[in-house]
Amino acid sequence: MRKILLLNGPNLNRLGKREPAIYGSKTLKDLENRIIELGAESQLEVICFQSNHEGELIDKLHEAEDTGVDGIIFNPGAFTHYSYAIRDAIAGINCPVIEVHISNVYEREAFRHKSVIAPVSKGQIAGLGLIGYELALEAFKREEKGEE
Ligand code: DQA
Repeated sequence: MRKILLLNGPNLNRLGKREPAIYGSKTLKDLENRIIELGAESQLEVICFQSNHEGELIDKLHEAEDTGVDGIIFNPGAFTHYSYAIRDAIAGINCPVIEVHISNVYEREAFRHKSVIAPVSKGQIAGLGLIGYELALEAFKREEKGEE
């Protein structure tokens, strides 16, 4: 069975409570359950992990490669904008990452306009709410089928 890792970074454990006008009212559990369910429909095992700690996210990226994960859906939270360590971890694994942001980072503060993750990612989805994670999963599903 092919495996997808759903990885969420700092403060995303607070979804539903945290700035709901920006991030919505659904919780991380709601999101994870949805992606697990959508994965199962296509025989994809979805593994979920969230951490507020940079090193734990890096360990998970390494582990993903070592355990044969086929694709990673990753919202690195604020690390997106400055973590060269996470950037290097992604560059150093042979596992495609799709970067997801719930909010439209480009219409927000200037510091959010830069992603150090985007250049080492397969693609980026921003501003579509939690649907962005579903679209990332869809991209992996369609790629698997060889669709363009
Ligand atoms: C975010 C955008 C980041 O700028 C912010 O620090 C987050 C969430 C998003 O999903 O929109 O924590 O990645």
